[in-house]
Amino acid sequence: MDSAYRIDDVSSILSPGLVVFRDLVAANIDRMIEIAGDVSRLRPHCKTHKMREVAEMELARGITKHKAATIAEAEMLAQAGVKDVFLAYNIVGPNIERAVHFRKKFPEVQFSVTGDHPRPVAQLGDAMQSAGTSIEVLLDLDIGRNRTGLPPGEAAIALYEQIAHTPGLVPAGLHVYDGHLGIADPAERRAAVEAAWTQVLAFRDALTSRGLPVPRIVAGGTPQFPIYATFPEPTAELSPGTCVFHDSGYGEKFADLTGFRPAALVLTRVISRPTANRVTFDVGTKGVASDPPMGQRLVLPDLPDAVQVLQNEEHLVVETSQAARWSPGDWTLAIPTHVCPTSALHRQASVVAEGRVIGAWDVVSRDRQLTV
Ligand SMILES: Cc1ncc(COP(=O)(O)O)c(C=O)c1O
Repeated sequence: MDSAYRIDDVSSILSPGLVVFRDLVAANIDRMIEIAGDVSRLRPHCKTHKMREVAEMELARGITKHKAATIAEAEMLAQAGVKDVFLAYNIVGPNIERAVHFRKKFPEVQFSVTGDHPRPVAQLGDAMQSAGTSIEVLLDLDIGRNRTGLPPGEAAIALYEQIAHTPGLVPAGLHVYDGHLGIADPAERRAAVEAAWTQVLAFRDALTSRGLPVPRIVAGGTPQFPIYATFPEPTAELSPGTCVFHDSGYGEKFADLTGFRPAALVLTRVISRPTANRVTFDVGTKGVASDPPMGQRLVLPDLPDAVQVLQNEEHLVVETSQAARWSPGDWTLAIPTHVCPTSALHRQASVVAEGRVIGAWDVVSRDRQLTV
């Protein structure tokens, strides 16, 4: 691996251990800003890193708007000093009271959530009003992901009207998650994003023509946000997550996403050489995300011909022509295929800069509950 991944002394790093390369994170954030064209268009998703220090690096670069998927992530952002937190998640059940608690605990934070159904939206309004406070709600618009949200149409307009007319709720715009548009071919991806955007703008216009305010449209994960960045829509807010750490999954699939480098890797050690052509590492499914298929959960740049033949909770067995060169205790770096759930497997990350371990950052919001 090149010198950006140098670690002079790994003796303090337990394995399997998450290692964050600080300067690569900084470069990825700078690249994200460069692509957005204007820092005020960004609302990065913190679900990839879940670390206060990364949020602070973004704040230091002028990124004031942030996105989260859990109340714990929202609280981590607030603790880092973020004053505009969008929890892109429908609030139901006990999370309604937690949202009230959040508003009271962090009154200085502009806090918004999503809704896609009249019942929890009404309950959220009641709870906010009873507590003497209010919350911003974005309508979750489904443009084909079919995960959450309402498709553009009468039911979606009716729900937005409900949000606008419910005391305790403030209509705050549209949330459009477009993960299904993560198409490898850049031209096909652009065409699909443009078609979806046309639909979104038509729906927004239907709302504004009824006198309803739509102050923002939040859209765009890592593969899509460079496309939204080219649209002349002042209310669009771009919400990439993965690119701050980047990973081999996106790196291999999206050749056009240049300028991002993996910045959070897993340090792993050889624990056995069970056969002449096998090396066993200590990075099992509890050290690296296992949502990619077996054999494709990580990349080992120092072992280019390694075939991952078995992975258990604490073991990864590879077959390689280079096995004789590896002994128990030797270490290497693995690039996760999917970094977001990988970071959640680790309580702390070792932080490396200029080849030295300079500290440890807590993966704060891997937990589901902090104080709220
Ligand atoms: C709602 C939402 N917004 C933004 C993102 C960020 O997308 P990406 O990981 O492609 O950057 C995600 C990813 O899962 C998401 O679920």
